[in-house]
Amino acid sequence: MKIALFASGKGSNVKNIINYFKHNSSINVQLILSNNLNSGSLQYAKDNNIKSYVFNKSELANNIVLDIMSNNNIDLIVLAGFLLKIPEKFIKEFNGNIINIHPSLLPKYGGKGMYGENVHKAVIKNKEKESGITIHYVNENYDQGNIIFQKTCIINKTDTHKDIAKKIHTLEYKYFPEVIQKLALKNSKNI
Ligand code: GRF
Repeated sequence: MKIALFASGKGSNVKNIINYFKHNSSINVQLILSNNLNSGSLQYAKDNNIKSYVFNKSELANNIVLDIMSNNNIDLIVLAGFLLKIPEKFIKEFNGNIINIHPSLLPKYGGKGMYGENVHKAVIKNKEKESGITIHYVNENYDQGNIIFQKTCIINKTDTHKDIAKKIHTLEYKYFPEVIQKLALKNSKNI
């Protein structure tokens, strides 16, 4: 089972997923891809001798990135803090094998512009008592694919958006690799 990780930002989830599967003989983090030359994910790829690619929006829209996927026999695409929209071509080609993690309890606080601290600031503004993470399949609409997994965390009245981000990351580090592993095992049984 070969996984490609897509990331745009800091890449701490990428780091965590790489470490989780480092010694796994059946699940292999094969590629790291980013639209941002400064993404931390590229350094983690380097540190772990994983191939990486940087591409721009138009390369994502044409066949360049898709070709990279097929040349590397990628089975599952994992979006870990990836900010560009995935083109429909990908979704058709991968037939459901693209997943994303979102830092809220979808359908709340999803959609265009809802990423990073924007999400947590909106949660505070609405005086939510809880937030959490959602891992979901990717379809042609932002954050609307079928939900695979959710986990909540409590929001205290005094929490800042940074406090919430910390709580969310803790959940992501614990559960995202576990969910990827479960999906990968399920998929390999279907082959
Ligand atoms: C995560 O909170 C994830 O849910 C969201 O973007 C953030 C990425 O963080 N989609 P990092 O780049 O992995 O540190």
